[in-house]
Amino acid sequence: MARETWATRAGFILAAAGSAVGLGNIWRFPWVTAENGGSAFLVVYLGIVLLVGVPGLLGEFVVGRRGKKSPVGALRDLSGSRLWGLWGVFYVVTAIALISFYSVVGGWILRYFGESALGLVGARPAYFAAPGQYFGGVAAGIDALAFHLLFLGLTALVVFGGVRRGIELGTKVMMPAVLVLLVGLAVWAGTRPGAAEAYAFYLRFDLATVRANFFDVLGPAAGQALFTLSLGAGTMITYASYIDEDRSLPFDGTVIAVLNTLVGVLAGLVVFPLLFSLGVDPAQTAPGPGALFVGLAGAFAQLPAGTLVATAFFGVVVLAALSSSISMLEIPVSFLVDEYGLTRRRAVAVVTGAVVVTGGICAINPTIWGTAVFGFVAGPLVDTLLTAGLAAVLVFVGWVMGRDAVSEFRSGAGDLAAGLATPWLLGAGVALPVFLFFTLLTNFGVDASLGFWPTVAVAVVAGGAAFAGLRTDRSLV
Ligand code: PHE
Repeated sequence: MARETWATRAGFILAAAGSAVGLGNIWRFPWVTAENGGSAFLVVYLGIVLLVGVPGLLGEFVVGRRGKKSPVGALRDLSGSRLWGLWGVFYVVTAIALISFYSVVGGWILRYFGESALGLVGARPAYFAAPGQYFGGVAAGIDALAFHLLFLGLTALVVFGGVRRGIELGTKVMMPAVLVLLVGLAVWAGTRPGAAEAYAFYLRFDLATVRANFFDVLGPAAGQALFTLSLGAGTMITYASYIDEDRSLPFDGTVIAVLNTLVGVLAGLVVFPLLFSLGVDPAQTAPGPGALFVGLAGAFAQLPAGTLVATAFFGVVVLAALSSSISMLEIPVSFLVDEYGLTRRRAVAVVTGAVVVTGGICAINPTIWGTAVFGFVAGPLVDTLLTAGLAAVLVFVGWVMGRDAVSEFRSGAGDLAAGLATPWLLGAGVALPVFLFFTLLTNFGVDASLGFWPTVAVAVVAGGAAFAGLRTDRSLV
């Protein structure tokens, strides 16, 4: 059977942007920003999106469009090495880890959306009365499990429809809806009493703060940038594998990154004025996964048209989350279809069945070896997998594909973008893996015990050694 492809260029861009725009922008971005000092974080984050995110995105695109297979097949065929194919399985595992926790959060959102929508016609939403207590009651356990299954079911339904009739069609509706609703909400939030204060916190650029906090916010900013651009999970490899014509990857990648950033910034423009209007200082409120649900739910409860605003807001989040979760499910599905010849339907059934269990564990959230599962998967595990995953793709692009990567980058690109191919390859193959390796070490707290510069040195040496090894052992690459 012929491999599926996107029907239109806009279809690919919207699907990839739909993958990027998700809980990372609306749920994670505002509280990570608040936790890390507001505008200072924003500046560093934007820099990383530009310098790491866009080149990283292009790395995955180049592998995907050239390989025309799932990450496993693409890495194996392009390198001619089964070891790289084996590494591809890493992305399948990452995708399962991602969707396991994502679907639980998606379930929470679905629940809040449902509660709010019902509140439009009936009694006030139940979570209005005591947001903190309410969230505590539904965040884990049977409630969370039920809504996880519902969210996963919706995700599976879209992926079931296939590349064109499922993913492309779905994201073509979801993405514009997200943008329109979010702009509306941001404009409205600007009329709230706390808006001026919120903008000052969020948008005032203060070089001194940026300099004072630069290294502290680097790690979180890098993690956030990867997560929000769906990098390091093989998503963008998979989506780019369905491109069947030569169009400009640098152009498409830039549009996707800009759209994604726009939604993140817009989400901040909705969330911060709301919090400030209630006198909640976002830098002081309890950070973490509950922030959106507890802080914002409390804000909605006190607004005149709170139920309506809450419905619109959680509606946006549901759509954004869904267009991301389908891209996660698609990775293992494409793997089973490409490698084992399963029909799409059967592949969706198998993968969904697996995530019913793995996500179910996240929803129940038991404590294993002293660590709560959900927090571990949503935090350190995913951060580490994505960072390592992207570093490996970039090493692959720079050291295995080399010239092929440059020609793939150039094909379909305009003169200006084509001229960037060589600098891009140098950055992607050398500077970015070292940077990512460094963030990996800081994620493990190595910089705290070794000191900053020694950690940089370790990253450079280890990176160099890995490349040298890859270069000399031709059997590997
Ligand atoms: N980018 C998505 C978000 O911001 C999350 C995601 C990560 C999706 C990795 C796919 C792969 O919510």
